[in-house]
Amino acid sequence: MRKVRKAVFPVAGLGTRFLPATKAIPKEMLTVVDRPVIQYVVDEAREAGIEHFIFVTGRNKAVIEDHFDIQFELYDTLEQRGKTDQLEMLRTMQPAPGQTSFTRQQEPLGLGHAVWCARDLVGNEPFALLLPDMIMQSEESCMKGMVELYRRTGNNVIGVQECDPDEAHKYGIVAKGAELHTGFEITGMVEKPAKGTAPTNLYINGRYILQPEIFQLLENQERGAGGEIQLTDAMLRLGKEQTLFGYHYRGNTYDCGSPEGFIEANLAFALQKPELREVVEGLIGKALGRPRD
Ligand code: UTP
Repeated sequence: MRKVRKAVFPVAGLGTRFLPATKAIPKEMLTVVDRPVIQYVVDEAREAGIEHFIFVTGRNKAVIEDHFDIQFELYDTLEQRGKTDQLEMLRTMQPAPGQTSFTRQQEPLGLGHAVWCARDLVGNEPFALLLPDMIMQSEESCMKGMVELYRRTGNNVIGVQECDPDEAHKYGIVAKGAELHTGFEITGMVEKPAKGTAPTNLYINGRYILQPEIFQLLENQERGAGGEIQLTDAMLRLGKEQTLFGYHYRGNTYDCGSPEGFIEANLAFALQKPELREVVEGLIGKALGRPRD
């Protein structure tokens, strides 16, 4: 079985749900506690054993490339000032030379199109796909669990988790077949089902391991919902030729592409840090105690 060595991060979206913050700054560079959103996702991929990080970028996204580069002046200054902890942290987060690739999606034609833009960089091997605005919190990362399931099953693995059944119409929902190891066979997929018609409350959470055949399907994928080339439509076609497994992730996921999810992520990650927990609890209490306008 071929190892999952590469991960694709589509970061070419316009981030319209988060305007005006995302007018000049990519949403992936907004900070959750002390690091940009994209760093959490790259760390998750690295923890899962990924060796090469492929970013599909767009206009205004050059700062993402800078974030993963070495900053000699900064590193030198930290060294001279004896700030070894910070220096060590930056070095640990730093991808090794040659471990990153960047390509551009010139027009935001949809997630499926963004993934297709990475076809030559991925080549003929399975790859991980992580939507960078979804960040996750759990002891074992979602992608790590998915790579383990992939090692047992091969084929394609799609991360899913439970949502409130009343909210299912907002998500891509899967239908569940036979259980296998830590996953199950996906027997159907429906994007934003009409209220009350969802086959389960398991939604696709932005983590995928896909076989390279998806690229041929994306190549001639017609535009779907919203006039965009939809990954889900191509995955439905892939499911006719190959097995799609669902990996049931049980941790917390925050959608940092929206202000609500972003605020929740900041609170959750700050409360998880022992040095910040009490401070943040105090700040929340103080803010709640203030009279409303
Ligand atoms: P979203 O729909 O959440 O991102 O796409 P968006 O389009 O930036 O957000 P809004 O709705 O306007 O606020 C999911 C992921 O796919 C990427 C986005 O960057 C995001 O990580 N994407 C989406 C692309 O890379 N290219 C696209 O054409 C569309």
